[in-house]
Amino acid sequence: MTQNNVYISPEEIQLQRDVINSIKVALSQSPACAMVETYGCQQNVNDSQRIEGMLLDMGFTLTDNRNQADVIIFNTCAIRENAQSRVYGNLGALKHLKEKKPSLIIGICGCMVQQEHIAKRIRSKYRHVDMIFGTHTLWKFPSLLSEVMEKREKILDISGSGVIAEGLPVNYDGGVKAFVSVMYGCNNFCSYCIVPYVRGRERSRREEDILSEIESLAETGVKEVMLLGQNVNSYGKDRGETDAFAKLLEKVCRIDGIERIRFMSSHPKDISPLLLRTMAEQEKICKQLHLPLQSGSDKVLKDMNRVYDREKYLETVRLAKELMPDIGLTTDIIVGFPTETQEDFLDTLSLLEEVEYDSIFSFIYSRRDGTRAAQMESVASEEEIDARFQELLRVQNDISARRNIRHEGRIETVLVEGQSKTDPQMLTGRNYANKIVNFKGDESLIGTFTDVKITKAQTWILYGELV
Ligand code: SAH
Ligand code: SF4
Ligand code: F3S
Repeated sequence: MTQNNVYISPEEIQLQRDVINSIKVALSQSPACAMVETYGCQQNVNDSQRIEGMLLDMGFTLTDNRNQADVIIFNTCAIRENAQSRVYGNLGALKHLKEKKPSLIIGICGCMVQQEHIAKRIRSKYRHVDMIFGTHTLWKFPSLLSEVMEKREKILDISGSGVIAEGLPVNYDGGVKAFVSVMYGCNNFCSYCIVPYVRGRERSRREEDILSEIESLAETGVKEVMLLGQNVNSYGKDRGETDAFAKLLEKVCRIDGIERIRFMSSHPKDISPLLLRTMAEQEKICKQLHLPLQSGSDKVLKDMNRVYDREKYLETVRLAKELMPDIGLTTDIIVGFPTETQEDFLDTLSLLEEVEYDSIFSFIYSRRDGTRAAQMESVASEEEIDARFQELLRVQNDISARRNIRHEGRIETVLVEGQSKTDPQMLTGRNYANKIVNFKGDESLIGTFTDVKITKAQTWILYGELV
């Protein structure tokens, strides 16, 4: 597919805008509430903000309360079995609501229902669901919803693949931080992963669209942006460009008002020395890198189709640390991949000790229908895998605690996000490494960059005082 036909045409976007306006006219007579419940990764959070943006423009009031809602949309994730089970559980609970309020419209979208067998199963077994739409039809949400509202018919549309829709609203709820997707999809087909099947091939947004979105965010008071993509470093490759992501970052740095820039995820195979140098040179880019490893064993990495080996990964980490000695490093680890033996697992542990990540996201391997690894027999028992998982957490907790101590005594700049949920006496924010910092201070500091002296480091939180 060439770039030209990736974009939804301006005429089709206009059509959606017209539908939004006509729903708005209808709702002006009878106000209504809507809620979007999000499962999954930041990309899904950003997609939900798109749905919310459309709902707000239609005149709906957003609510967090299922009992109040006239429209409920579940934006789902398929990455692991437990993500899907949660959705099934919660969908079951909605049946009761629908019985009490037959006018309620229930929609389900996102990665889980982009799998045809699941969309069909939901249609036949969960009769209270009114609309099912996929990741490639999200932009059509206004016309799909309008059809359900008018005709009271059930809709299933998971058609299409690999599109980019510009010019539809996004609900950036007025915070100081925002997610901005710069590309969609994935070409990597890691053998365990469902994402390429449910998100389609890699496609990058036009640079001018991304920059103008961030400029308008800056005008509304956003100070920190997180650029998102399944592999942000592949940005522009679908257009045949090289180093386009590093160039994009430089341009984002020039936007007034944006003080902090983060990005994720970075596939280790694509992270270039130029990108690391750009990170090191540009003051606004946070010295923080999420670099998913998955496994420390070369054999397992090969079976996972990750395309790098342990040494290549460590080389990148060494260069990152050399250029940015204080860099905050995080990663993703899968335990219990079918071919992982105890010895392979020990390779992962030794790599954790060598890199010393600030924190890790760890997952027990979950078999995904349709992926290559789904054909592989597991060499370890469930008990062995559970024991490995516990061991991984134990080892990393020690490393995280050790790593956090380095912040003690330092003065760090924190972007203050609000009151701490666990202790309303405290304000909470994040430092450059995206670590939570809690400290006592006046509410007027919310939304500002504030210098905080770190007085105590715990495994997950830093505590400090205003300077
Ligand atoms: N594109 C990102 C990852 C997105 S998914 C990247 O490659 O870096 C986030 C994480 O979920 C992955 O890094 C992996 O650790 C985990 N994951 C993906 N598929 C999984 C599966 N089938 N079972 C368990 N964990 C999985
Ligand atoms: Fe999944 Fe691999 Fe793509 Fe990440 S790079 S989304 S793990 S296939
Ligand atoms: Fe889940 Fe889809 Fe993200 S499968 S992790 S919501 S891309």
